[in-house]
Amino acid sequence: MAKHIVVIPGDGIGEEITAAAVKVLQKIDETCHIGLTFENRDAGGTAYDKFGTPLPEATIEAAKKADAILFGAVGGDQWDNVEPSLRPERAVLGLRKALGLYVNLRPVKVSQVLSEYSPLKPEIVTGTDILIVRELIGGIYFGDKCESEIHNGVERAWDLENYSVPEVERITKFAMTAAKKRRGKVTSVDKSNVLATSRLWRRTVIQVAKEYPDILLNHFYVDNCAMQLAMNPKQFDVIVTGNLFGDILSDEAAVLGGSIGMMPSASIGELTSLYEPIHGSAPDIAGQGIANPCATILSAAMLLRYSLNEDRAVAMIETAVDQALADGWRTPDLYKEGFKKADTDTMTQVVLRYL
Ligand code: NAD
Ligand code: IPM
Ligand code: MN
Repeated sequence: MAKHIVVIPGDGIGEEITAAAVKVLQKIDETCHIGLTFENRDAGGTAYDKFGTPLPEATIEAAKKADAILFGAVGGDQWDNVEPSLRPERAVLGLRKALGLYVNLRPVKVSQVLSEYSPLKPEIVTGTDILIVRELIGGIYFGDKCESEIHNGVERAWDLENYSVPEVERITKFAMTAAKKRRGKVTSVDKSNVLATSRLWRRTVIQVAKEYPDILLNHFYVDNCAMQLAMNPKQFDVIVTGNLFGDILSDEAAVLGGSIGMMPSASIGELTSLYEPIHGSAPDIAGQGIANPCATILSAAMLLRYSLNEDRAVAMIETAVDQALADGWRTPDLYKEGFKKADTDTMTQVVLRYL
């Protein structure tokens, strides 16, 4: 039976990197006969320019009907001053909410090849294998907010952080189940020394963990966790945390593997799942054809794993990316003297060749 993929390129480098990942999926389909079909849909600033909204209803409808969604990135300076509810970023937030994508998986794996690109010492980062499980549709991102109010003649703005017990329970269960298939350790990250939401978070995680006696659970405050990630990343197996902390810590963790251009993600919920690199639209390099396509190619591999159960195809893609790197091909984000320079297209062609 055919499997229908809705592709949402978005803005900036979004178009370049999703086109690369679609080529990889098409090639893999020739070997694995999955029967993939593709349909492009609009979202982000480019959709706002065309339709006056960053997330057209037609995109949401198509996404809901798809077997999986491949998402590029949204945003750019030219939309910085549009009305907040129409900002490009609302597209990805709106899709996450509309599809109930409460889990965001952000794996951080540092191979020998990549460890020399980290600003940290190779012996600290080599062998790092972390799965960040970020809660994606709650917390301060989705609480009440006020863009501006005048109180006693003073302007203020606010965003409300809130989490409910069921929201924390379901993400904790997901993290515990994931840890069972890995090294059996979960680190929960919060700021329970200050925040009420974090105290509820920690209490709930401890309660849920009782159902998983084989899992080793520990807790870090987010500030300490940020430091531990740089100092001793190999201590982590699964990290479970809220929406904002997960956003920040995953960009930090991307540095362990040398470039954010290598980091994929999967957003999973009750309906269709969505796959996207953790990076943004990279306006500074957009349109130059030099973005690293690997994060999106590896996101496509996660799509095959989590939405389509095509494990052979996943292994083929991950191996092809490893081989392209081992063979010395580097996009500018990872380039050093003595290596082979690749732009987006060259890197994609090399990965295709190894498939
Ligand atoms: P960014 O991730 O776009 O870029 C940060 C830095 O990393 C830049 O120097 C960029 O060139 C580099 N980079 C990112 N991806 C790369 C790749 N594939 N290859 C090589 N280099 C890469 O973050 P930012 O600059 O803070 O944000 C830019 C825009 O993207 C903003 O509008 C932001 O809101 C948006 N954004 C969107 C998403 C998303 O759609 N999921 C995620 C993050 C940021
Ligand atoms: C990400 C991005 C998004 C987030 C933005 C663009 C809304 O930074 O996917 O990491 O904060 O979740
Ligand atoms: Mn982010």
